[in-house]
Amino acid sequence: MVNSRFDVELNNIQKKFGSNIVVDNFNLQIEQGECVSFLGPSGCGKTTTLNMIAGFLEPDQGDLLIKGRRMNGVPSNKRELGMVFQTYSLFPHMTIFENVAYGLKLRKTAKAEIAERVKKVLDVVKLPQVGDRYPKQLSGGQRQRIAIARALVTEPSLLLLDEPLSNLDAKLREELRDELKRLQQEIGVTTIFVTHDQEEALYLSNRIVVLDHGKVEQIGTPWDIYNRPASEFVHTFIGKSNRLEVMVNELRGSEIALETAEGVRLEGNARGLSFHVGEPVSAYVRPEKIRLRTADERMSDRVGANEAQGKVKLTSFLGAHTECEVEVGRSDVIVRIPASQEQERFTPGQPVVLSWDSDDVFVFARKESKP
Ligand SMILES: Nc1ncnc2c1ncn2[C@@H]1O[C@H](COP(=O)(O)OP(=O)(O)OP(=O)(O)O)[C@@H](O)[C@H]1O
Ligand SMILES: [Mg+2]
Repeated sequence: MVNSRFDVELNNIQKKFGSNIVVDNFNLQIEQGECVSFLGPSGCGKTTTLNMIAGFLEPDQGDLLIKGRRMNGVPSNKRELGMVFQTYSLFPHMTIFENVAYGLKLRKTAKAEIAERVKKVLDVVKLPQVGDRYPKQLSGGQRQRIAIARALVTEPSLLLLDEPLSNLDAKLREELRDELKRLQQEIGVTTIFVTHDQEEALYLSNRIVVLDHGKVEQIGTPWDIYNRPASEFVHTFIGKSNRLEVMVNELRGSEIALETAEGVRLEGNARGLSFHVGEPVSAYVRPEKIRLRTADERMSDRVGANEAQGKVKLTSFLGAHTECEVEVGRSDVIVRIPASQEQERFTPGQPVVLSWDSDDVFVFARKESKP
């Protein structure tokens, strides 16, 4: 018996294809019942990592443990996994019942028990009536639900999902996303969910692993990732943000004062990063953190730090909020106004004052290597 409080452990995992390191120094511990997302742009190594956990690929370096047992070299079918892929992977010549029953048949489960467990799992994915149909007689979303049922029926210790929603249209995606969250809460199976959709990751996971070019950029709760990004990459990959090119004017402890070339002044916190006075850096403020008020042109409103004057360029009504594009000097700043706070309508050409809190300013060193 091995005792481990973690269901999955990746210790210094590395994978190369030729001389190309596609997963580098990957460390992660997943607790029982957790849902962890791997989030990152195309080609960052999400599927490669999942395939190593699944046993389809072997790591070149490092240890992989499932329930405390070292899995390096252990064949996939001995790892007690359920898997769902991006493309529908049902057998077209088998009925839905036979598709779902497949894994149990391989395990030589008794017929009566197979019937009972397939029925139960079809209820769980809310498709109790489709056992006699063939995959082509189901919609895309229904097929993906069957793929999930098939992965769950063997009661795996670990569920691996590789972009299972990305082939579906927006509405179905949302429905199935809700369903996955419900399933995850009801069944409590430890889950790794691969996605390049940040909203899906925020919605579904207990923790998110943000990857870029095979490297772990940050591991944290959705709240941490959004509000305490470890890097510029994490901040800009998750959610929209406005970037301003600024210079460091002053440093007082962790407080930092910044200014754009056009005299917009920002104050924020260095959040543990080190900067020096005179350094050109990037400052970010998210659209939903900026407040907008109309300005009186004749009075030429004077603005302080964390305020800026601008002119509305465009407004787009999006139901739950309105997005305003505001010209601030030579920059365009996006401001998101929730419907509940939209006491007045802003129109193109209108002079406005933007303001935000110092807590909502994120500062990162400028990447000089960029062309
Ligand atoms: N069998 C292989 N041989 C050589 N290179 C590979 C192989 N499989 C993947 N790669 C490369 O490894 C990198 C990571 O690929 P991977 O499939 O893990 O990306 P991903 O994050 O899943 O991307 P996507 O979001 O597009 O699915 C890519 O640069 C890819 O080209
Ligand atoms: Mg992939």
